[in-house]
Amino acid sequence: MKVITVVGARPQFVKAAVISRAFKKAGVEEKIIHTGQHFDHGMSDVFFDEMEIPKPHFNLGINSMGHGGMTGAMLAGIEEILLIEKPDAVLVYGDTNSTLAGALAAKKIHIPIAHIEAGLRSFNMDMPEEVNRILTDRISTILYAPTQTAVDNLAKEGYANFNTVIENAGDVMQDAAYFYAEKASSENGILENIQHKQFVLCTLHRAENTDDANRLKNLVDGLNELHKIIPVVLPLHPRTAKIIAASGLITEFTIIEPVGYFDMIRLLEACSLVITDSGGLQKEAFFFKKNCVTMRNQTEWVELVEHGYNVLVGANKQALLAEAKNMLYKTNDFSKNLYGRGDAGNKIVTHLLNWFNNK
Ligand code: UD1
Repeated sequence: MKVITVVGARPQFVKAAVISRAFKKAGVEEKIIHTGQHFDHGMSDVFFDEMEIPKPHFNLGINSMGHGGMTGAMLAGIEEILLIEKPDAVLVYGDTNSTLAGALAAKKIHIPIAHIEAGLRSFNMDMPEEVNRILTDRISTILYAPTQTAVDNLAKEGYANFNTVIENAGDVMQDAAYFYAEKASSENGILENIQHKQFVLCTLHRAENTDDANRLKNLVDGLNELHKIIPVVLPLHPRTAKIIAASGLITEFTIIEPVGYFDMIRLLEACSLVITDSGGLQKEAFFFKKNCVTMRNQTEWVELVEHGYNVLVGANKQALLAEAKNMLYKTNDFSKNLYGRGDAGNKIVTHLLNWFNNK
C-alpha cells in the first residue's frame, strides 16, 4: 500500500509523527507533502527534527496568502503530485487550509481519503477551521474520529446515509504525548530560560481572537492583570506577534518565541495552569494533568468541559481572571480515559491496511 500524507501547519506535524512511525513499523510506503503553510524553523523544522518525522518528499512553499489564494494554490500543487505518484490513499489531518486542499485535490481525481481527527465540530461556521473540517469529512472515504462525541456528531449529520467508513480510533495526540514525554524529560530545555518557578502557560493565535481588536484587547488586558498574581508565559505565534506589534497593545506578561514539541511538553509538565485558544493544547493540558481555561466561546473537546477539566471564558476579561484563579486551585482526578489508550496510531494503520486489503 502506498499513501501520500498532506501536512502544512504545526498541529499536523505532531499527529503525522505518530502515524508515520506506525506506517514504518507496518512496512507501508509513505510520501509526505508539506504545503509550506507553516515555514519558520520554530513552527515547522523543529517538529520534523525532534519527532523524527521523515523529511517531506515535496514542499510546495505556499504561505502568507489569503484563505482562497492559499487553498487554491495548494489544491493545484497537490493535484500535480498525486497524478504522478498515484497513491492508494491520501491522509489528511485536522482542520486547516492544508487539510481541505489535500482532501479536495484527492477527491477530484478519485483517490480515497482518510481524515484523521474527523467529526469534530464547534458549530461556529464563521471559523475557517469549522468549514475546513465539515467539507473534508463530507468528501473523505474513511473518517478516523478521536472521540465518541465526534462519532455522534457525524451520525447527527446523516453520515449513516453516506458511503463513508467511520472508526473511533482514539486520539493520536495522546500517543504523541505519552511517547515523547520520556524523551523530553531527559533535559531541562526551555525551563532553564524561564525564571519563574510557578507559572501559567498560555497560547493565543485563533483568528476569532487576534483579528477582533476588542477581543484581543480584553484578553491581553486580562493576561496582564493575571501576570501580577502569577507569571504568565506565552510562546507567541507569529500571526499574533505581527498583530500585537501593529496594534500598539502593551503586553506585560512573559513572551517567548514559539517552542518545539519537546519544550512544549516541558512547559506543560512544569506549569500550574494552561490558558489557551488552541484546540490541541486543551487536550495536552489534560494529558499532563493540568486544568485549562479556554479563551473561546465554543470548544470541539466538549468532554473536557463536561468533566470540569476545562472552562470556556470567551474573550471576557473578568471571566478570564475569575476562572484562572478558580482553576489554579481546583484539584481534579485526571485518571479518566477520554481519548483512548495512546494506541490510536497503530489502530489507524491496522484499520487502513485491512480496508485496503478488502476493498
Ligand atoms: C493555522 C490554521 C489553524 C491552526 C493553526 C496552528 C487555517 C485556516 N488555520 O492558523 O487552524 O490552529 O494554523 O498554528 O489553516 N506565519 C509565520 N510563520 C509561520 C507560520 C505562519 O510568519 O511559520 C504567519 C503567516 O505568514 C500568516 C500568519 O502567520 O501571516 C497566519 O498563518 P496561517 O497559516 O494563515 O494561519 P495560522 O494562524 O497559523
